[in-house]
Amino acid sequence: MKKTAIILFAVLSIAACAPKSHLIHVKTPARPAGQQDVLGLALDPIDTVRVGFIGLGMRGPGAVERFCYLPQTRIVALCDVEDENVAKCKAITAKHGRPEPAGYSGSEEVWKQLCEREDINLVYIATDWKTHTPMALYAMEHGKHVAIEVPAATSLEEIWALVNMAESKRLHCMMLENCVYDFFELTTLNMAQQGLFGEIIHTEGAYHHSLDEFWDEYWHSWRLDFNAGHKGDIYPTHGLGPVCQVMNIHRGDRMKTLTAMETRSVVGKKLWKERGHDPEEFQNGDETMTMITTEKGNTILIEHDVMTPRPYNRMYQVVGTEGYAAKYPVQQYSLRPDRQEGAPDHENLNSHRPVTKEVMQALTEKYRSPILTPELEAMAKEVGGHGGMDFIMDYRLVYCLTNGLPLDMDVYDLAEWCCLGELGAISIANGSAPVEIPDFTRGAWNRQKGFSYAFAD
Ligand SMILES: NC(=O)c1ccc[n+]([C@@H]2O[C@H](COP(=O)([O-])OP(=O)(O)OC[C@H]3O[C@@H](n4cnc5c(N)ncnc54)[C@H](O)[C@@H]3O)[C@@H](O)[C@H]2O)c1
Repeated sequence: MKKTAIILFAVLSIAACAPKSHLIHVKTPARPAGQQDVLGLALDPIDTVRVGFIGLGMRGPGAVERFCYLPQTRIVALCDVEDENVAKCKAITAKHGRPEPAGYSGSEEVWKQLCEREDINLVYIATDWKTHTPMALYAMEHGKHVAIEVPAATSLEEIWALVNMAESKRLHCMMLENCVYDFFELTTLNMAQQGLFGEIIHTEGAYHHSLDEFWDEYWHSWRLDFNAGHKGDIYPTHGLGPVCQVMNIHRGDRMKTLTAMETRSVVGKKLWKERGHDPEEFQNGDETMTMITTEKGNTILIEHDVMTPRPYNRMYQVVGTEGYAAKYPVQQYSLRPDRQEGAPDHENLNSHRPVTKEVMQALTEKYRSPILTPELEAMAKEVGGHGGMDFIMDYRLVYCLTNGLPLDMDVYDLAEWCCLGELGAISIANGSAPVEIPDFTRGAWNRQKGFSYAFAD
């Protein structure tokens, strides 16, 4: 009796001292009645992708040019506030012998007229971040598919609005995350899917890119203004996109919680002060780190640093029980010896060293991505856009639309890859407490088994 009482007392004492969960819950809005998810959305093939571009600053003209190389497209309309940007892009289409597109410029609202046109089926948005979601919503309201530059949304409210609109209208809403199409990432994804890395338990991604020379080039300084006004990783998608595909996020696993922390702002405050503002207003830390846990018990680390002079780096590391891939600063694979069959055995390789250049080469050839035909690779390298990945992205978008296939990236990818900004800010504001990551599929994250590309027969 006495012994039982002591045990009971001990158990109660431990319970009383047990740390409380500090997980911050985030509300998932109920799916509106009559609406279904758009996982695997396949629609009728589109004969000709008739596209209207909005936003023709530094990024937009490259997209216009890339579409000139895609035969099943018609560039119907071009829009930018600035007249000369529209004129420059009209010149690009003329150079390629394309019919002259309609031009819209001169006001911040004129893009609506482009979205209202009956003869467009895709609106391609490359404006500043604050205008992405309102434009995409309006375009979908008017029955258009949308392709939106990164990040497509800047808050949970915007994310849910895009998810709901895509679901209710049953339209494609794709974020233009080009880094999932870079050559090393494509090969590595294929290697991961073939099991070369064993069970993948951890990945890393980043956007380390000093924007020193760009800050004053952005239209009305929108990018520095956004950094000044927001905490959290506000540009996470280049780092997160490729690793989410490797980890089958919302295709068998899902991101469950995140914890974010940031350094103090030094460079950001200096830039803000130099431009006549109160440096204390500047919000974004010079470096932000976000750590994510997944439902299956894996982890992801994502970093953001656009302030310091460290060299360009998207990290891109894949850590598996049987192998490892890393892209920066040098591309390398490391595999257990028994995983290396099929590759030339020039040396006594072991799992503690990266494989040799010859083995890298052999792996790259053997595990060439199924989407990367030799013709597409050659064309991508010729047309370019960050070495070719931008062209592969546009090619796949048009290929899937014209063949009536699900797109490589759906609105839930968009949601997951964009949510780090606001959720990270919540974590930082609460002493880096863990924050729940909503299931943007609202219950369907485990229905599709593994990431895959769609192909026409
Ligand atoms: N995926 C990538 O690798 C990559 C690279 C660079 C930029 N981006 C993204 O592309 C987008 C554009 O970036 P940028 O560097 O071209 O910026 P930018 O400032 O050079 O261009 C933005 C353009 O949008 C136009 N614009 C703004 N509001 C408008 C409105 N209401 N109506 C019509 N036009 C409007 C501006 O006139 C400007 O020409 C951003 O989302 C950025 O993050 C992506």
